[in-house]
Amino acid sequence: MDKYTLFPTISTSFIVISAILVAIGWNLAIKRKLDQHKKVMIAAAIAAIIFFIIYSSRTIIVGNTEWGGPDNLKPYYLTFLIFHIVLATVAAGFGITTLVLGFNSKFAKHRKWGRITSVIWFFTAITGVAVYILLYMMYPGGHTKPMIDAIFG
Ligand code: HEM
Repeated sequence: MDKYTLFPTISTSFIVISAILVAIGWNLAIKRKLDQHKKVMIAAAIAAIIFFIIYSSRTIIVGNTEWGGPDNLKPYYLTFLIFHIVLATVAAGFGITTLVLGFNSKFAKHRKWGRITSVIWFFTAITGVAVYILLYMMYPGGHTKPMIDAIFG
């Protein structure tokens, strides 16, 4: 595996790990195992932060990968990519809010925000894996460019 594929593979794995931890953490909250819920959700947040560190450093150092598939599919891919990026950004804001509400013991609000955060994060992970499959498995061969060029170029 070359360096262009290695980093996205690692970062996408961390989104998936984080989403699985959120699913486990939610289940623990429903079962009222709240100490374990807290630990598992903190682990999920750490996995999300590791994803973000790998993803952003790769974007700065190596650049983003350009669409390598047929030209007529490119607008659909870009729409999907932007949808995924928006979801991930919204999930980060909701995630921080949910954590702060939890740490401040505002559990009624935490519960409402936590449910929405978890669902958004599941969709972020699913769309992230779909982007990975489109970009590295179905149509390999796109070369790297700085982020702005990959989206608007
Ligand atoms: C981003 C991380 C977190 C997410 C996504 C999250 C998500 C959730 C969800 C979805 C529920 C509701 C379960 C249900 O009834 O359907 C919940 C409940 C709860 N969470 Fe979290 N949680 C997170 C972090 C934390 C942390 C760090 C703490 C402790 C400091 C915590 C403490 C609790 C407690 C005590 C409840 C029960 C609230 C109640 O039923 O009144 N959570 N969480």
